[in-house]
This record gives sequence, C-alpha cells and structure tokens, in this order.
Amino acid sequence: MLERLGGQASDNTRRRVLNEIMARQYWRPSNMLYPVPAVMISCADEEGRSNIMTAAWAGTICSDPVMVSVSIRPERYSHDVIARTKEFVINLTTEDLTFAADFCGVRSGRDVDKFEYLHLTKIPSQKVKAPSIGESPVCLECHVTAIEKLGTHDMFLAEVVQVSVDEQYLDEKGRFLLEDAGLAAYVHGSYFALGEKLGTFGFSVRKKEKKEGGKRRKTVPRKTRDAGTAPGRKKDRISGQADTGTGRQKEKPSGRRKDKPASQADTAARRKKTTSVFADRISARKKKNTK
Ligand SMILES: Cc1cc2nc3c(=O)[nH]c(=O)nc-3n(C[C@H](O)[C@H](O)[C@H](O)COP(=O)(O)O)c2cc1C
Repeated sequence: MLERLGGQASDNTRRRVLNEIMARQYWRPSNMLYPVPAVMISCADEEGRSNIMTAAWAGTICSDPVMVSVSIRPERYSHDVIARTKEFVINLTTEDLTFAADFCGVRSGRDVDKFEYLHLTKIPSQKVKAPSIGESPVCLECHVTAIEKLGTHDMFLAEVVQVSVDEQYLDEKGRFLLEDAGLAAYVHGSYFALGEKLGTFGFSVRKKEKKEGGKRRKTVPRKTRDAGTAPGRKKDRISGQADTGTGRQKEKPSGRRKDKPASQADTAARRKKTTSVFADRISARKKKNTK
C-alpha cells in the first residue's frame, strides 16, 4: 500500500497510511513494562516483628556492586520499616508461592502477621536482620543505600549483600537449575507460570556446537526431559544447544513442578541428597497443609 503511494505522497499521508496498516492505538503514559516478577519483600522492624509485601516494581540496576531497586508507596506498612532499618530481602516468587504473593499484596502487615497466616517458613538471613522466606528458591539480602522520592512511589536503591538459594535446585555438580523452580511472572494484573524456553543468552549469534568427530550437533527436542511435561507446559524446542550460564545437564531430575508425576521420585531423591534442613521442614508443612 505504501509503495502504491509512490514518491508523491507527503510525509503526513505516509504516516497516516502506516498507522492504518499497523492498526496501533496511542495511549497516555502508563506502567506497561511487562513481564515483571512479583517478588515478596520481607522485612523486620527494630523489635523483630517481620512482614512481607509484594512488589512488582522491582528490578536489577547494577552488576558491580550488585544492586537492585524496589519502588514502594509511602503508605505501605513496609515502607517505613525498610526506610528505618535500611534492610529487606527480595524473595523470588514461584507458582507455588503465587497465592501467598497475592495475599501479601492485598493485606497489610498492620492488620495481619503474614508469615503466620500463610504458614511461610521464616528463616534467618545471614547479612541482614530481615528474615528470608524458606519456600522461595532465591532470596536476595539487601541493604538500602538511597531512597529516591519519585512521586507516588519512593524508589529504594539497595545493594545485594548476600544471596541464598534452595539446595533442592542444585544438581550433583553444584549447578543451580533455577528454571526448575517454577518461577512466576506478573503481566498486566495477572500471574503467569513461565512457558516454553525460547533460547539461552547469545543463542542468536552462537555457532552450533560441533559434535566430537567434527559433525555439528543437531537441535532436537530433549525428549527424555520432556516426557513428563505437564499439560500447559510446552516442550523445550531449543534443547541440544550449548547452555551457558545455567550449565544445565542433559538429563536431570526436575524440581518443584508438582504437576509432573513422572518425576516425583527423582525430586524426592534429590531432596534427600540436600543437606538443607529447610527442605524437610517445608515438605512436612506442605503435607500438613494439604490434609
Ligand atoms: C502483584 C502485586 C504487585 C505489587 N507491587 C507493588 C509495588 O511494586 N510497590 C508497592 O508499593 N506496592 C505494590 N503492591 C501493593 C502492596 O504489596 C500492598 O499494598 C501490600 O498490602 C503492602 O503491604 P504492607 O502494608 O504490609 O507493607 C503490589 C501488590 C500486588 C498484588
């Protein structure tokens, strides 16, 4: 259509036609940067009273020093606690934790002890007084370095001073298989499980790995791993490529995907191997809660 306009059409006409073809609407500014994590921020006041609030306006802002930001409205109970103590923990949220994350985002610590109400395991952090959430696969212990007033929200800039991870996601070689944790995402008012893996960092430019003997490795679906894929979880179509970063193994027992019956025995076996005292406590608590 644009070509048919030839060289005669004005810029305005071109713009109008292009807009029609692409059928876009233009809205006033709004927060539409998605997906984001809906993390659970835990904190504790000077008397040791702990609390959890959910925050979607959180992000990584620097690698060295490792820094994050969390934007919190001043009216939140957690706001003043964190502003005073200058400490909090970011707990990553999984599918299993989504109910708790939502609850922590709609009820205030002024009215309810969220750890107790949700039967979450309060575990001591190493570098900050704020507790971590035992059921979370990754907890980032943070120390606030600055508070920036932005408008509706105050942005807390913080240095990550310690990271703790759930040992059940470590494989035999000590590699951390975070993608097995069932992390959840928040998109435009809804919570989602993560879907199909589309690639790994740099895959767009990576040469396919050469097989021993000079032949290129074929990119075939990792059938073994996906044999027990639950409904709603699509298969991994990128498997077979060199995995950087996570260093995941070809065949491995999967983690906390509760809807994957075929791998439950594997998960139990791996759990047994971990030395984490919390893993046992968490599973005992889960059993109790399902009764
Ligand atoms: C998914 C979700 C994301 C949220 N993100 C934020 C956020 O980034 N910043 C914020 O101030 N409040 C956010 N909230 C609201 C607070 O979590 C909520 O007001 C909570 O009750 C505050 O807890 P508190 O009063 O115990 O601190 C979010 C709520 C939900 C459900």
